[in-house]
Amino acid sequence: MVSKVRVSAPATIANLGPGFDIIGMALNNPRDFLEVCLGEDGRDELEIQGIGANTISKDPKRNSAMVAGRAVLEKAGGEKFSIKMRIVKGVPPRIGLGSSGASSAAGAYAVNYLLGMPLNMEELLQCAMEGEKVACGSPHADNVAPALFGGIVLILSFNPIRIIRLEPITNAEIVVITPKLEIGDEKTKIARKILPKNIPLQTMVNQVQSFANLIIGLVRKDLSTIGIGISGDFVIEPARSKFIPKFYDLKEKALELGAYGFSISGAGPSMFALCKEGTGDYIGKTLISILKDAGTEANYSLHTNSKDGVIIVP
Ligand code: HSE
Repeated sequence: MVSKVRVSAPATIANLGPGFDIIGMALNNPRDFLEVCLGEDGRDELEIQGIGANTISKDPKRNSAMVAGRAVLEKAGGEKFSIKMRIVKGVPPRIGLGSSGASSAAGAYAVNYLLGMPLNMEELLQCAMEGEKVACGSPHADNVAPALFGGIVLILSFNPIRIIRLEPITNAEIVVITPKLEIGDEKTKIARKILPKNIPLQTMVNQVQSFANLIIGLVRKDLSTIGIGISGDFVIEPARSKFIPKFYDLKEKALELGAYGFSISGAGPSMFALCKEGTGDYIGKTLISILKDAGTEANYSLHTNSKDGVIIVP
């Protein structure tokens, strides 16, 4: 058995507009790094460093990476092992870039690797979802799945869990705009609670149509159609955008500047625009100046859609 492994897992954008809880993409940066080994002394140990480390639970029973790793041990019959883990956070927590998903994916992958890879893709994903559940209150898979497998992952069913990996978008950049807002511990829980429980039939039709645009665009590698899909969230965006200053002004400006599509990243408050290569920097600068003029500090970052999920780091 290998004694120690270092892995890293990427930030992700969940939902991609209309695909609430069923689609997400891996980004090329930032990443979480984990160093993991197994012991037989009955004592789990956890150390966390890096961005936002002080906001993350150090209790092995509440920490998403540890819970995901423990779930792998249980599923694979390795309960006798203890987990020794060091996390270096690169994905900032609570901004909507799948921070707990990255840690969960990395924790599950590392433990499975140390055991000699007994679990298959779907089993591994289920274990990573357990980590997401302790962090966010719901075991959604649209961050952990792309964090594990890279590219763009579509969740075809939950029970049994079935996924399909779509080719990453290669010829576009993604600009992420992050407003600096006061965000509490329960960000994702609250962002889910405020969602409508029922939607009118016509809203359902519009949403399905957007999702069809998104998937057809991805399959055909047609950026304009992907963008129409991303921009057409008629259910989640109207509820969550109320908590993001100037959301619709930002969306309008991004599209006016040529972005293919614009929406909220995961549960927010970050937003993202899919843009032509070379235009993201200008779009990012313009959008944060709109936010600053309205009294909200913000920053932006440039990304691509990564083909890699969790990778072993030498
Ligand atoms: N699909 C989830 C949500 C992602 O939108 O609540 C949270 O990161």
